Amino acid sequence: MQLAHRLTALAAVLSFAAFAQAQGTGPIKIGLMLPYTGTYAGLGNAIENGFKLYVQEQGGKLAGREIQYFKVDDESEPSKATDNVNKLIKRDNVDVLVGTVHSGVALAMAKAAKDSNTLLIVPNAGADAITGPMCAANIVRSSFSNWQPGYGTGIVAGQKGYKKAMTITWNYAAGAEAVKGFADGFEKGGGKVVKDLNLPFPNVEFQALLTEIAAQKPDVVFAFFAGGGAVKFVKDYAAAGLNKTVPLMGSGFLTDGTLEAQGAAAQGLLTALHYADDLDTPRNNSFRKNYALAYKANADVYAVQGYDAAQILNAGLTAAKGDLAKRDAITAAMRKVTVDSPRGKFTISAAGNPVQDIYLREVKGNNNEFRSIAAKALADPARGCKL
Ligand code: BEZ
Repeated sequence: MQLAHRLTALAAVLSFAAFAQAQGTGPIKIGLMLPYTGTYAGLGNAIENGFKLYVQEQGGKLAGREIQYFKVDDESEPSKATDNVNKLIKRDNVDVLVGTVHSGVALAMAKAAKDSNTLLIVPNAGADAITGPMCAANIVRSSFSNWQPGYGTGIVAGQKGYKKAMTITWNYAAGAEAVKGFADGFEKGGGKVVKDLNLPFPNVEFQALLTEIAAQKPDVVFAFFAGGGAVKFVKDYAAAGLNKTVPLMGSGFLTDGTLEAQGAAAQGLLTALHYADDLDTPRNNSFRKNYALAYKANADVYAVQGYDAAQILNAGLTAAKGDLAKRDAITAAMRKVTVDSPRGKFTISAAGNPVQDIYLREVKGNNNEFRSIAAKALADPARGCKL
């Protein structure tokens, strides 16, 4: 075939694809913006796996539409976030954005999604502002706000009778907001946070800060770390002998997806989160079994959040019978859904954040085992959201 004929044929194929997509018959384009490198790489992979598992369980389609994936590694790097998200919005022309893990990157994604009116489902990053002052009809979170697990941990620390706490975290939105949640819960029970320690993300040189904890001897330490940084922190805390003298608690990210690497250092740690590995429900059992079969790995909270992101999208698309042009039907259904999650059923607030139980968990072997409900049907305060 001559070049001109080939180009004409190619143009016809491309315009047919665009036509099919607009008519609601072509694939739905999903842009996954997640960390695939760096300290949060494991979290990004688990989210993608969970999302794809749910789609596979629906026969590879949502609301009768094929799914086509586009991927960007955001490296948990806020300075590259706007360029990265625009690759998906402007270059790949995706219908739905799914991302990300790091709150600083997610804030830039949320701004771009708002400006371009692209649907966004946040499958991890807890930045309070996304479902606070930045809330929007086209943005929903399948995970948590940073405040929620921090608050649940603070409530439990207060119930345990601790009076004086120190906190330690990375110096960015997620750490600061988790610490604020902890302080709110802890102070409600009569406790006081006497000192906040932090270091830049994703630094893992903890030694000087551990020395300060040993010198101050608080009743309890609250930590927010996740991924590779959480592995190193929990091991360093034990290596310094602090696990024998100062109880360590945290938002459950401290011990989720990390236990094989943390080994003995994590045993017995108490954390609070919206998931526990051993929730003995048919939904969680089948999810964990299918995940293990598909990926030869144990599911964790990040896999659950990816799975639930796909469930929320499915609810929206099903209400619109797969027609992306019916935006109001999609966004309304994504708010109205009761998600039948492996974590237990949850609803979505007007601001777009899960209203969910926060569990107290204890590390036993390679599991975060359920102990009790730290906070029932906890809603984020959603300060500043005007919807
Ligand atoms: C965050 O940046 O929002 C975040 C990262 C990892 C785990 C939890 C929250």
